[in-house]
Amino acid sequence: MEVLLTEEEIQKRVREMAAEISRDYQGRSPILVGILRGSFLFLSDLVKQLTINPEIDFMSVSSYNNLTRSSGVVRLLKDLERDISNEDVVIIEDIVDSGLTLSYIKRMLMARLPRSLRICALLDKRERREVDIAIDYVGFVISNKFVIGYGLDLAQKYRNLPYVATLDESEAGVP
Ligand code: IMP
Ligand code: MG
Repeated sequence: MEVLLTEEEIQKRVREMAAEISRDYQGRSPILVGILRGSFLFLSDLVKQLTINPEIDFMSVSSYNNLTRSSGVVRLLKDLERDISNEDVVIIEDIVDSGLTLSYIKRMLMARLPRSLRICALLDKRERREVDIAIDYVGFVISNKFVIGYGLDLAQKYRNLPYVATLDESEAGVP
């Protein structure tokens, strides 16, 4: 295990992202949609730094089934609790890898006719993209390595780490 992003680096970047979002949504109350479970630490740190008054809601989808690779199958496990038509929505995601999860979520939310829909992701593994999807707020572009910590898991463990670390292939269990 090797630390990729320290707690300090993450917190600094989260403050910058919060400032940018606060500027862009000045005078508005967007609904921040946290994608469970990976985004929970990022979302909680981000909202504490915002100078606007957002609403917060959550969605849960499954795409990884405890493995380190995308199955390509996305299943909706928990939907939003409120209607988003005519609302400003910002999806908060931990990491964009193939992009399959987000493009599924985006398509589903766009069908509900929000006033606007943007995407905010802490980590962007751009090299791995399989579908074209625009990320409006990106924390860090990272290389193609499996990462854990700060919400990100390996078989549901390590989400609690305050930093992001890479696992090598044997640790990550990739054949
Ligand atoms: P995508 O559909 O391939 O973009 O995968 C996105 C989801 O896969 C993220 O929301 C994460 O939950 C998970 N994921 C992708 N890469 C990693 C990683 O390196 N570590 C932990 N989870 C990951
Ligand atoms: Mg996720």
